[in-house]
Amino acid sequence: MPLILGIETSCDESAAAVTEGPRTVRSSVVATQHDLHERYAGVVPELASRAHLERLMPVIEEALHEAGITLRDLDAIAVGHAPGLIGSLLVGVAAAKSLAWSLGVPLIGVHHLLAHLHAPALDDEPIAFPAIALIASGGHTAVYRQEDTLNAELLGSTIDDAVGEAFDKAAVLLEAGYPGGPAIERLAAEGDDRAIDLPVTRLRGERFGFSFAGLKTALLYAARGHPVGRGRASRFPRDVADLEPKARADLAASFQRAAVDALLLGVEDVMQRDSVTSLCGGGGVLANTLLRAKLSTCAAQHHATLRIPPMRYCIDNAAMIAGLGAYMLERGQTTSLDLQAVARLPIGAGST
Ligand code: KG4
Ligand code: ZN
Repeated sequence: MPLILGIETSCDESAAAVTEGPRTVRSSVVATQHDLHERYAGVVPELASRAHLERLMPVIEEALHEAGITLRDLDAIAVGHAPGLIGSLLVGVAAAKSLAWSLGVPLIGVHHLLAHLHAPALDDEPIAFPAIALIASGGHTAVYRQEDTLNAELLGSTIDDAVGEAFDKAAVLLEAGYPGGPAIERLAAEGDDRAIDLPVTRLRGERFGFSFAGLKTALLYAARGHPVGRGRASRFPRDVADLEPKARADLAASFQRAAVDALLLGVEDVMQRDSVTSLCGGGGVLANTLLRAKLSTCAAQHHATLRIPPMRYCIDNAAMIAGLGAYMLERGQTTSLDLQAVARLPIGAGST
């Protein structure tokens, strides 16, 4: 089985991994940048790309060391080249090209979202197709139908915020902490999820889809009241600091239920329409216990196998890049050294 080095720098995680073929992970190292972005309560692109420059080479060295190999043992270099923050992607792509060129091994440009869809197969059985897959992260919220590993048909995506972004904004509003998802989940555990009636958006038209902007606004009004006055003079009647701890926890629990229910409605709609063998999930929001439990019930109701990878492969990581890279290498899908980093690229739209 070929040894592949995977490199992932699309957002705020500098990651490198070694796989032996498409599914066996030999090492997976992720350096998060939460420390850098915490004070801004969100990812600052310029800080992210600078941090990748500093962190990527040590992360690659650690991945090789943990796998017990040296650069000379590698058969190919795979890199997540799209989509993502352009300055961040460029760091990974430049590193991958230099390594591939200097080692004389093939370069493989991997689509970040297709790699998330491959993640359930890491250290596990291949995914049984056809499959429906939900990606829910800080940057993406979408449902796909897959007939095989390298093709995914987009069935619906968010028309405004990603669900992880909504969790992050809710955490800022409720002063719950950073990163927002886990902070909201912790706060929600102490609250009553039926205390406040927040909107659960269901989009149905030509396409399936999601929307979280209305939920975010509803949470803001529930927490701080409806603004009084007009224009620049408008004010909220209260601050979040004025709320009792129980009221904050109730808001977090009600928000979490509404966000998870909105995801489930979208997934239910496609599961009802299509009969599939597997229901897959990926992205940081899949860490959410309530979401995982509801997806599990949904899969069982539709006689599908639930395939959600362990958390280390749900969040951004390079094992999924190396694994999918190995799969592409087996099929001769290597890339030339003029591979481009691309900020926006739908799955299947071509590699550069
Ligand atoms: O996949 P990921 O690590 O990075 C990208 O956005 O690509 O996802 C991060 C997102 C953040 O928005 C974070 O708040 C959310 O996943 N998240 C969660 C939980 N853990 C992380 N959302 C809800 N519940 C969680 N337990
Ligand atoms: Zn991702």
